[in-house]
Amino acid sequence: MTFLTARRAPIVLMRPARFDQTSGMPLKSKTAGKLISFEGSEGSGKSTQIVRLASHLQQVGRDVVSVREPGGTEIGEQIRNIIVHNSKGDEMCAETELLLFAAARAQLVREKIAPALSRGAVVLSDRYLDSSTVYQGIGRNLAPDPVQMINRFAVGNVMPDLTVVIDVPTEVSLTRIRLRASDVPNRMERANIDFYNKVREGYLVLARGLPERFTVIDGTKSEDEIAKRIWAEVKARLG
Ligand code: TYD
Repeated sequence: MTFLTARRAPIVLMRPARFDQTSGMPLKSKTAGKLISFEGSEGSGKSTQIVRLASHLQQVGRDVVSVREPGGTEIGEQIRNIIVHNSKGDEMCAETELLLFAAARAQLVREKIAPALSRGAVVLSDRYLDSSTVYQGIGRNLAPDPVQMINRFAVGNVMPDLTVVIDVPTEVSLTRIRLRASDVPNRMERANIDFYNKVREGYLVLARGLPERFTVIDGTKSEDEIAKRIWAEVKARLG
């Protein structure tokens, strides 16, 4: 894979990864990595499943890099703080929110994701560009064209090879948010139930439209069952 940061065209050429023919497990490859993004509402259990998948992949010899959005870089974590925690963020308009998420993502792609992919790693990203499509586009009603254009500008053409949506009913998601240790909800989590219904539906619509990239996993199943299903998808689709 080549990643050029030249002015005109950031280009990533992804070659297919190689896999062990007998076990079907991904092999370490120097030439091409894979990007797997995880999406879903707050409280869907993404983070737990990312840790489990990372450890499974490491057990089969893969180089794994886990990142989260917004954040994942020093600049990105500062941006995250402005978006998610800053109390003044309550006055933030949807356009600013979109651009800040995109800015954090642009940094993450160039600083962490692209270099990891080019050395053959599997990158697991806790949220990626689909979060902006769904939260800012569908949730906050921003027009789809600029959202898509800004998303694409931010990622260059570093698109996920697989996107795992962990789907839970909104009530489950909201209950889990309330049960979290830091029981003060952050700015994003204070949005109302209609917003989260739109987010959930938004992911399902995206997934239906792009079945070759997305897989939807039922997040109400047990943690072990979800991990098993995710592994099966990773093997089937990237193996
Ligand atoms: P975080 O505490 O990381 O939530 P989670 O564990 O559910 O990922 O906060 C990230 C918040 O930012 C979350 O509410 C989703 C939101 N978000 C967007 O609205 N747009 C985006 O592009 C991204 C990456 C996140």
